[in-house]
Formats: sequence, structure tokens, C-alpha cells
Amino acid sequence: MDFKLSGEDLLQVRCSLLVIGGFEGEAIRGAVKRIDDALGGVLSRTCEEERFNGEMGKSIMINTLGKIGAQRVLLLGLGKKSKFSQDVLRKVGIIAAKRARTFSDTVVFGIPNNGKKGGASAIVEGVMLGSYEFSKYKTNGKKGQGIKSVQLLSTKIREREFREEVEFARIISDSTNLARDLVNEPPMNMTPTKLADVAKEIARAEKLECRIFDRDEMEKRGMGGLLAVSRGSEEPPKFIHLCYEPKGSAKKTVAIVGKGITFDSGGLCIKTRDNMRTMKGDMSGAACVLGVMKGVPKLNPSVRVHGLISATENMPGARAYKPDDIIRALNGKTIEVIDTDAEGRIVLSDALSYAVELKVDEIVDIATLTGSCIVALGEYTAGLMGNNERLINRIMQTAKVAGEKVWQLPMDDELRKEIESDVADVKNVGGRWGGAITAAMFLEKFVGSTPWVHLDIAGPAFLEKGGDWYPKGGTGFGVRTIIKYLLQK
Ligand code: BES
Ligand code: MN
Ligand code: ZN
Repeated sequence: MDFKLSGEDLLQVRCSLLVIGGFEGEAIRGAVKRIDDALGGVLSRTCEEERFNGEMGKSIMINTLGKIGAQRVLLLGLGKKSKFSQDVLRKVGIIAAKRARTFSDTVVFGIPNNGKKGGASAIVEGVMLGSYEFSKYKTNGKKGQGIKSVQLLSTKIREREFREEVEFARIISDSTNLARDLVNEPPMNMTPTKLADVAKEIARAEKLECRIFDRDEMEKRGMGGLLAVSRGSEEPPKFIHLCYEPKGSAKKTVAIVGKGITFDSGGLCIKTRDNMRTMKGDMSGAACVLGVMKGVPKLNPSVRVHGLISATENMPGARAYKPDDIIRALNGKTIEVIDTDAEGRIVLSDALSYAVELKVDEIVDIATLTGSCIVALGEYTAGLMGNNERLINRIMQTAKVAGEKVWQLPMDDELRKEIESDVADVKNVGGRWGGAITAAMFLEKFVGSTPWVHLDIAGPAFLEKGGDWYPKGGTGFGVRTIIKYLLQK
């Protein structure tokens, strides 16, 4: 896809689709009015007929029958003028890309972007994210021909800044789309070994340090959690460690830790057939880490970044770990297994302990950890918890800018006793209520005093029906928030 800045006139510019926008309550004004006049009022008439008033997410598309340069016009609702933001522009890009997919090769945006920094980037990001589809296993290929070229009509941004913004949007969208691809890949192919291969490939291309631990190495080090969960599977587990070293001196060191269960059958506490579907997506945290590690080196932040992944299947094979087993994690703490389906926190215990050993300044973990989190927040919002309010607030603010929804859940002290064990240091499941919170409390036992934030992405990582702003299947949730966070000064 090719992106250009253009000074051409709205009515003259030749393209298969011209995207324009109107604010709520004042849809036909300015540029939109000019086009409406040139088209003999067909836009305003259609708005009336379809009761379109510029509401966010709504749109009208018409064919111009050759009356102006553009073949078609897509009028998008921008919502309330007072709420106009980068997030709105990203959504504009997403809707336009989705609507344009089947027929357009050249798309032109004549949208007010306020000339604010990041405006062009947000539109480009939206277009690239909205054009995503996973069609490699469709024998008859893609649904649409795909957008080849995109132009922004704007006089408010200079060419050089525009280039930079496009480049940034390309990097984070490619990273997000990589995460989506990894999640959408069937579990027969996206094994722990395959995840490790992808990590190696990223390391080679981006010149990162990369270490992969196999079973022997994990045994030597004492990664009892990952080893235990992997025992019921024929697929060998992998522990993945990527490291980005900034060119100058590092201002701080951050570990990004991902849950990489490439298929979660539940193990011996096996899931029902309905609950087992979509469990190929249980490596979404790992996919996010790989997306981040692919994007970060291209953006040169002055932070050292460790990307850590515990990768295994959770299967009920003959040697599978069992309820009542007691496991020793890398940091020496013992875990009583109550339910083999609460495997994510067990494999993360080793990865978090490992991050602490690396003496990092901050840990962010990302995991499809609990169904409870989906019950609490719905499918579109990730749960956020942690041990450091400052870090929590910074991640929440970044998520807002990135357009990813997160919501903090309370680490109520009353719930802590739920994971106390009679025979070990901690048990892997609490009572019925507050499951997302007790899961986070379990993880907290393995981060020591390191500032830490946990993102439970069980909901937004994988959307069976897709969302207004997300594709079906893997969404790449978290990649944009984490990359943007690492870029902050
Ligand atoms: N991978 C699941 C969580 C999950 C559920 C992710 C639905 C995405 C969609 C996790 O390993 C799991 O099975 N959690 C259990 C924990 C329970 C046994 C305490 C759950 O949430 O039911
Ligand atoms: Mn599970
Ligand atoms: Zn799981």
C-alpha cells in the first residue's frame, strides 16, 4: 500500500473512493457541502432518507456517476465535534478500508485532521488495520482486490512530517497484523516450536538477541511451571527470550511477558467442546510480545526491552500434570495444582521469575488468562491490574491514546486468602468469585517488588464475530499500547 500527500482539489481528484466526514448535527458543511452541490444535492437527500446525522460509525456511500473526479463518495459520521480525536481518525480509516475493500484501488481522504500531530498517522493506521484479512487458507484467495494507493488531501501537514507519520503507522500496523496472523494460524501449525521459529526470524531481521530454552535447559534452570503444564503434550515446550538493546545508553529496562499456550484443551480438567473452540488464541499474549519485538527496533526507543514467552500446549496426555500435584516455579515458590485448566498463571510464574532475575525496572505481562475477566468486562475491554499505581496509570493513559480499551480491576485484600494453600505456597485457583483478580494475585507472587502491570486480554484478543473496529479472530490487542508505552519519554 502506497501513501501520498496531495494538494489536489476535492472535486477534481481522480480515485475510486473519496472519503469525507461530517460532525454530528452538522454533517453537510464545508467540503461536504461543496461535493453535495456538485452532485446536485444527492448527498443531503440521502442523508435525510437514511436519517444520517453524522453519528460516529455511521456512513453513507453513493456513486457519483462521473459528476466529479471520484467514482464514489463515502460520507462518514465523525461524531461530536467536541470529541474529535486521533481515535476518531483511526476509526475513519478502519471503516473506509472495510467499505472500500471490494472495489477500490485508490482511496482519497478529504477529512479534517485538525493538522494536529498524529492525525495522518491515525488515518493510515486505521486503513492498514481495517484492510487486514486472514485468507491464506481460502482456496479462492482474498475477498477484495485490496487498496493499492491512499492519498490524504491536506495542506496542514508538511511532506516530511507526513512521511514520518506514515512510517510510524506502517510499523505499528504491521506489528499488530503480525500478531493477528500468528493467532489466526491453526493450532496444528502454530506450535511452541513454530513460535520459537518466528522469534528467531524476528531476531535475525531486527538484529535482536534471541535465546530459546528447550526442555533440558528448562530443567537445568528449574522452570517447573512451564515443564509441568507441557507434560501432557507431544509438542516440546519452548521458553523464548528476545532482547532489544538501544543504540545509546538505556534509560530503563522493561520486560514484556506473554502467555503462549498454543492450544488450551484444559488438560486433565478438560474443557467442554464449546469452551475449547477459539483456544488456539490462547497464545495471544505471546503473539503480542512478538509483534512488539518486531516493531520496537524500527522505532529506536532508548529503553532496553526483554520479550519473554512461555510457550506450550495444555493437553491431557498420559504424562499430564494432575490436580493435587505440587510444582516448584523458577523462583522456588511451590504451587498446588487445583485445576489444570488454570495453566496460564503457572507457565507465567516462571517467565515472571525470570524477568525478576534479569533485574528489570518494570514488567508488563499480557495473557488470555481468565474467562472471569470476560464475564466482568465484556469482550472488548481488557482487565488491568498491578502493584504500582504510577505504572498502572501510565499504561491506562497510553491505551486510551492507542484506542485499546482497558479497565482496572481492584486487588481487594479480602480476596487474597482465596489462593492460600494448606500444602504449598500458593494454589492455582481461588473460589468462584473474582477469578480475574485472584489470577492476578497469583501472578503477583512471582514479581517480587518489581513494578508490574498485568493485562488480562481473554476478551479482546480474539473476537469470534469481530467488532466494529476489529477483525474476526485475532485482533492483535495490546501491540499498539505496549509499543506506544515503550516510546514514551
Ligand atoms: N485460556 C483460558 C482463559 C480464557 C477463557 C481465555 C475464554 C479466552 C477465552 C484459561 O487458561 C482458563 O482456562 N481459565 C480458567 C480458569 C479457571 C479454571 C480458574 C477459566 O477462566 O475458566
Ligand atoms: Mn486454561
Ligand atoms: Zn489458557
